[in-house]
Amino acid sequence: MIKGSATMQGTWNYAHKHQELSYQLLGQTGLSISGAGFGCYRVDAVFSEHVDVLTKALLAGINLIDTSATYADGGSERLVGNVVKELVLKGKLKREEVVVVSKAGYLQGTNYQVSQERKSEERPFPELVLYDEGLEHCIHPEFLEDQLTRSIDRLQMETIDCFLLHNPEYYLLWAKKQKMVKAEARAEYLRRIKNAFTHLEHEVEKGRILSYGISSNTFPYQQNDFAFTSLSEIWDIAQSISPKHHFRVIEFPLNLFETAAMTEINQPGEQTLVEFALNKGLGVLTNRPLNAIKEERLIRLDHAVYQGEAAQQALQFKEKVAALELSWKNVSKLNQLAFRVLHSTTGITAVLVGMRKARYVEDIVQELRHTYAPSDKKETWKRIREL
Ligand SMILES: NC(=O)c1ccc[n+]([C@@H]2O[C@H](COP(=O)([O-])OP(=O)(O)OC[C@H]3O[C@@H](n4cnc5c(N)ncnc54)[C@H](OP(=O)(O)O)[C@@H]3O)[C@@H](O)[C@H]2O)c1
Repeated sequence: MIKGSATMQGTWNYAHKHQELSYQLLGQTGLSISGAGFGCYRVDAVFSEHVDVLTKALLAGINLIDTSATYADGGSERLVGNVVKELVLKGKLKREEVVVVSKAGYLQGTNYQVSQERKSEERPFPELVLYDEGLEHCIHPEFLEDQLTRSIDRLQMETIDCFLLHNPEYYLLWAKKQKMVKAEARAEYLRRIKNAFTHLEHEVEKGRILSYGISSNTFPYQQNDFAFTSLSEIWDIAQSISPKHHFRVIEFPLNLFETAAMTEINQPGEQTLVEFALNKGLGVLTNRPLNAIKEERLIRLDHAVYQGEAAQQALQFKEKVAALELSWKNVSKLNQLAFRVLHSTTGITAVLVGMRKARYVEDIVQELRHTYAPSDKKETWKRIREL
């Protein structure tokens, strides 16, 4: 078991060691994190390439790791635990230098089997969302407690720095399918989140987590959407539990095709999601920077995957985006531009990238060497939306 957690001093020291790269404070946690996080969606302890690439990233200046109990059915957390432990034992990294974010909510694979066994023993997890064959979802305290124990075990860490509810909006998506009345579904959604947050405050007291938050794909949605997760309502819940709550981080998709977090006014006071989060001092992590999803279609933001006419179109698109800001003009690759747009936008603390190859880490570290004049780029994001 790796003792301790990320600390303000430890992460500051790490940032100081790599002072040519850019770091920011993760909201009010006081922790310094690299402008890019190692996204663990499709990495697994069983692949030696993934061991090597995570090792490389941690030694190169990336000290934020984003994983989940459900990624590779736990294999992703095992990878993180093995790699961090190995580096700590070799004296190449200190536990207090690295910030580990994990998540719970999904019951797939092993979790799904456990759930079926518990049902047959007549002690199912409470408030299960029976979403689909082989897929359930839950944020009830009993489930979160179980998941946190398993994550701590796989990560081999005494404390997880930030623990997120993973896509809690599954409840709303399910409620919509059941044709529930929207107002009732939304009230129940918030009640469940309040219950979960109350439990997570106890986990902070116990020292199993330092802070908590929510990763939701529906944070940027329009207010009237059935599945919308309203950050201001969630903020009020946290405040109602205690003004000294530990709700610190949000995560959601943002990229050149999914621009809503920067352009959709869905918060009080005519604010966007990112503006509201910034005003409340929340840490903001964005995901899928290179794998955009538009109208249920995957769009890769990497010119290398296109050929012929599609490659020409990708190049033209890149040129149009690059023309919008002076500091974007000299970027030669679409993937680096897609990252730079996010990294140079005020309010975004770190961009999570699924960099499971060594050259992807090199690309991102190269980008982290650039410094930019801080700017919210509000108007620029509106223009990106129109492209
Ligand atoms: N996707 C989501 O909805 C979601 C939700 C919650 C959290 N997250 C978190 O966010 C992280 C990032 O999202 P993601 O992994 O879904 O997508 P992503 O980082 O936007 O894209 C990953 C894809 O981009 C490619 N890639 C990565 N770096 C590259 C580079 N430098 N040049 C060219 N191609 C590159 C990868 O190629 P290969 O195929 O060769 O690996 C992979 O196909 C996740 O790992 C996870 O931690 C994601």
